[in-house]
Amino acid sequence: MQRGVEDAPRTNPSVGSAAAAGPGRRLGLSGIVITEEDEVAPISRRPLKRMSSPERWEAKQLIASGVLDVRDYPQFDEDGDGMLYQEEGAEEELEIELNEDEPEFLQGQSRFSIDMSPVKIFKNPEGSLSRAAALQTALIKERREVREQEQRAMLDSIPKDLNRPWEDPMPDTGERHLAQELRGVGLSAYDMPEWKKEAYGKALTFGQRSKLSIQDQRQTLPIYKLKKELIQAVHDNQVLVVIGETGSGKTTQVTQYLAEAGYTTRGKIGCTQPRRVAAMSVAKRVAEEFGCRLGEEVGYAIRFEDCTGPETVIKYMTDGMLLREILVDENLSQYSVVMLDEAHERTIHTDVLFGLLKQLVKRRPDMRLIVTSATLDAEKFSGYFFNCNIFTIPGRTFPVEILYTKQPESDYLDAALITVLQIHLTEPEGDILVFLTGQEEIDHACQCLYERMKGLGKDVPELIILPVYSALPSEMQSKIFEPAPPGKRKVVVATNIAEASLTIDGIYYVIDPGFAKINVYNSKQGLDSLVITPISQASAKQRAGRAGRTGPGKCYRLYTESAYRNEMSPTTIPEIQRINLGSTVLNMKAMGINDLLSFDFMDPPAPQALISAMEQLYSLGALDEEGLLTKLGRKMAEFPLDPPLSKMLLASVDLGCSDEILTIAITAGFFFHAARKDPQEGYRTLVENQPVYIHPSSALFQRQPDWVIYHELVMTTKEYMREVTVVDPKWLVELAPRFYKGADPTKMSKRKRQERIEPLYDRYHEPNSWRLSKRRA
Ligand SMILES: Nc1ncnc2c1ncn2[C@@H]1O[C@H](COP(=O)(O)OP(=O)(O)O)[C@@H](O)[C@H]1O
Ligand SMILES: [Mg+2]
Repeated sequence: MQRGVEDAPRTNPSVGSAAAAGPGRRLGLSGIVITEEDEVAPISRRPLKRMSSPERWEAKQLIASGVLDVRDYPQFDEDGDGMLYQEEGAEEELEIELNEDEPEFLQGQSRFSIDMSPVKIFKNPEGSLSRAAALQTALIKERREVREQEQRAMLDSIPKDLNRPWEDPMPDTGERHLAQELRGVGLSAYDMPEWKKEAYGKALTFGQRSKLSIQDQRQTLPIYKLKKELIQAVHDNQVLVVIGETGSGKTTQVTQYLAEAGYTTRGKIGCTQPRRVAAMSVAKRVAEEFGCRLGEEVGYAIRFEDCTGPETVIKYMTDGMLLREILVDENLSQYSVVMLDEAHERTIHTDVLFGLLKQLVKRRPDMRLIVTSATLDAEKFSGYFFNCNIFTIPGRTFPVEILYTKQPESDYLDAALITVLQIHLTEPEGDILVFLTGQEEIDHACQCLYERMKGLGKDVPELIILPVYSALPSEMQSKIFEPAPPGKRKVVVATNIAEASLTIDGIYYVIDPGFAKINVYNSKQGLDSLVITPISQASAKQRAGRAGRTGPGKCYRLYTESAYRNEMSPTTIPEIQRINLGSTVLNMKAMGINDLLSFDFMDPPAPQALISAMEQLYSLGALDEEGLLTKLGRKMAEFPLDPPLSKMLLASVDLGCSDEILTIAITAGFFFHAARKDPQEGYRTLVENQPVYIHPSSALFQRQPDWVIYHELVMTTKEYMREVTVVDPKWLVELAPRFYKGADPTKMSKRKRQERIEPLYDRYHEPNSWRLSKRRA
């Protein structure tokens, strides 16, 4: 990285217009004024402050008495009236308040005029499912803290061991070695636990995948019988909704059929997936079936990884990637067919693609659009896409017996583990699929299962434990498709990914605790966060269906039938209605879509959510007074990142990348997350005046500086700020003038007014008894 303006003093850039950048200064792309190299020394440009009258009096007395010489006062103004000045010190307090000026395009609609209510994700916040979700969230946190504490304790013990070889001139040979190894502990991110080695360490495959050749396997799929009809239907219908049970072959076969039918001679066949893992895993399978190496004719693209080449004609990708491609080429001219797969997942990207492709098919009559879904929502999709035809692949499913618990389970994780062991010990053969909410929970469950199985001794049949989540390396993921050898049972512990995106054959038992992690925008924290929430009835049905793919199965629902009916909503709220729309709005603006409020969404987001996103973009300088994209905004849209992060990066380019500058750069992006030390205790956020604390793991925990910026807030025992950095309050005003302003010194700032006056301790009276209001009562 290079520093553009080396060692140049950077002072008080009053951001705003290019006019602010006087001679020797230029306006950076991020809106920051950069001072050129040939500027005068920094000290002379510091604002000077007139000495107070007593200070001046004292100085004059000292000079007059001869105790000090005039030259001891470098600021003494000899030419003038002998006025003394002093430099404005760092100690000086600066008052800051929120800038409440609304941009023209948001008059009367911004945060200062409307209160935003949080997204409602629990149908019944008092119900048994909400309680169970809260308990599990707390347990996960507790386990994490214990783990962190153990690690810290281990790290604390290391220095002694490391010193041992010095204290003892003749350490045993092994010991020095041990100390060497210990040095790395805590740096290496990860130590593989025993159960994981057990599951993945062995290179051998533990079962015959299938007696059939890969081509014969393809022909047994339900979709195979309808190959001709499907190709005809795509030919005759520009937009087609395709529905069929999970595992019928939609994702892996449709693309190949259309390639055979010649669609690849006119362009690529693109197929979107809501999840990265699904895109990778499916592409790998299809490459195998197609008979090519991954990245040749069949490839995939996910964020930060492009596994395609010049020959690629069948391209699997995340829906977010296709959205980025549309940003570059609004006609998607490289594609002859686009398939929006797993559309029922309703990710925010899929929803935006719906609207964009609905417009695009009108412009490109030669293009084909296929929308697939696992049976749900088909009518709705068709209605949205000009009442297009629905192509149904008849399912091949077996009945699934549903078992509810009689009483609500308070600890669903523990209940799930017990159920796994019960099935393993008492039920006939068949593999088990457990749905949990995330990596941490899954790893913990696998660890417990492994230990409990070990506790049962050698007489019980082996249980092969396999986790599935997106952070898993792909060679590990392919293990889940391999059947268990005779006499052994496989248990797959998966996130929602196994609900529809991945199909695992041989599952007879599904354990459904009824929860999933979903992304929700928390307007208080100003962040999207993953929250454990009850799934919808539609999801529950889909999960149960996974037990009936190979034969009649059973689904163990770890909740009551009444919870299913009364606490689960019929369908999941689409992501677009619950997350921060910042980067989506930025992308849409970059595509030239200016009137977002009347954009043809299938399910529009709340207008207030759109407005708040636009407001954030305005504060960051990505939108101008009229709500149009600025040059900076266009650059920001090129990054596949959240707007504050891309702004931060652009600002760091403007300023060069030394450490201190990076802090200023962070300020440029994360000024929303500023907090100031509270005179009483901890900190208060500038925006909400909410009490927050520096996380004990922070390097600043001991220092407690006056002003900080944080990346996120986590709620454990208190509301903690994580990833904290010290800032100068001036930077806030300089770098985010649309958000903050210096307070008018003649008026009391809002914050001051809000600060409560605490009476001195009085042991004889109630704490607030002196207040007039109290007395009057
Ligand atoms: N990576 C893989 N390894 C082995 N088999 C797979 C893989 N991916 C898919 N399959 C198999 O291909 C079949 C069709 O899957 P898919 O096309 O994903 O169905 P759908 O999209 O209709 O749910 C399933 O029976 C599944 O088991
Ligand atoms: Mg599929």
